[in-house]
Amino acid sequence: MSFSIRVDEDDQQVAFAGMLRPFIGDHMKAIRATLEAAAKNARAELCLDFKRLKYMNSIAFLEINRFVRWAVDARPNLKIKLIISSVIPWAIRKFQVIEQLYPNVSVVIYDKSLYPIQQVIEDEDFLKVLRTQEKIVWEHERSIISKHGLLPGMRVADIGCGLGDFGVRLSDEFKVEYVLGIDHSRVLLRYAQSVAMGLRLENVEYQYGDAAALLLPDNSYDFVSCRLSLQVFNQPERILQELYRICKPGGRIYITNEMMSNIAGYPQQDAIRWTYDQMIAMGRKLGMDMDFGFKTREILLDTGLEDVKVDLININNMNTDPFDLAKVVESWWYVIDQKAEKTGADAEMRERLRLGHTAHVEAIVSERGYASWPIYAGSGRKPLRPI
Ligand SMILES: C[S@@+](CC[C@H](N)C(=O)[O-])C[C@H]1O[C@@H](n2cnc3c(N)ncnc32)[C@H](O)[C@@H]1O
Repeated sequence: MSFSIRVDEDDQQVAFAGMLRPFIGDHMKAIRATLEAAAKNARAELCLDFKRLKYMNSIAFLEINRFVRWAVDARPNLKIKLIISSVIPWAIRKFQVIEQLYPNVSVVIYDKSLYPIQQVIEDEDFLKVLRTQEKIVWEHERSIISKHGLLPGMRVADIGCGLGDFGVRLSDEFKVEYVLGIDHSRVLLRYAQSVAMGLRLENVEYQYGDAAALLLPDNSYDFVSCRLSLQVFNQPERILQELYRICKPGGRIYITNEMMSNIAGYPQQDAIRWTYDQMIAMGRKLGMDMDFGFKTREILLDTGLEDVKVDLININNMNTDPFDLAKVVESWWYVIDQKAEKTGADAEMRERLRLGHTAHVEAIVSERGYASWPIYAGSGRKPLRPI
């Protein structure tokens, strides 16, 4: 079975990933031993993190249930937190029963409402594509970012930093004084930290944090960015309030977001449009706004910013390496299909989604076709005195 278990003693956490499908309880012996050791070593709380499990069968569930029973007896003061995701929906109900049975056990359904596609973007293969995506967006962003107020010597906070490449580029190419990247994904942060350490960058740091409740002081950064992230949160205004709070008066907030209803492709434009229209509709059902781009100006104004600027970054197969762009768009299938599954699309709809998506990829690499992926970049200045 392709399965891994990782114990992080500092975080008092055991993380499971992959497919957990033993045929008999004995197959779980090694896992049980790992869990018991973790429970014995944990100080106040042990967190079992199942959010990266793609599959779990009932034998595995029963063994985990037995372990929890054992831990509640063996360590009566230990709090046990179980983080699960909606990838294994039947398990949510069963874990909730465990929670009701034992007062020390709590169950968290990971980012169900805040960020529904988290597991997808943490997938190993997807990380590689995220890097290519970051690279092609940056090729366009680098020429506009100074206009949005970025200057050498600034202190920058990048919220929802993902793989953290943006911070590295700002340090390297724009000579900023310091960049702090914050993200909610330990997988992405670990990757970001390894890149910055490999490059011996001492002025770029990454921290775990929640964009909606940042543990950063008020008025502390000259430039606060949040790129391609607001669109996937279901309460973007809350995040903007936090960005505003940590930005220095006179500093700037910089955001980028997609505008899927402007995605175009030729030939087969109807099939392509249909797929992205469905993407927008499915995203809405899941609390995401894949059509955020046009709202950029309004949301920056509503946040209380002045001197608002908005740019369209029109990434297309004529101004970007088409093979890189195709690789990125190809990877979206994973996201489209997940959204289709989560919103209950039937087989016929999924097939039609696939045809439109394939047509988009084909248009990108076609020698006579045209295909675009528009992103809106906007920024505004925090007033010196609050309005
Ligand atoms: C689409 S990615 C964008 C990453 C990066 N800014 C880029 O442009 O490549 C969205 C990011 O938001 C992060 N995220 C999701 N929920 C979050 C939260 N509550 N707080 C902080 N980051 C979060 C995800 O882990 C992911 O890295």
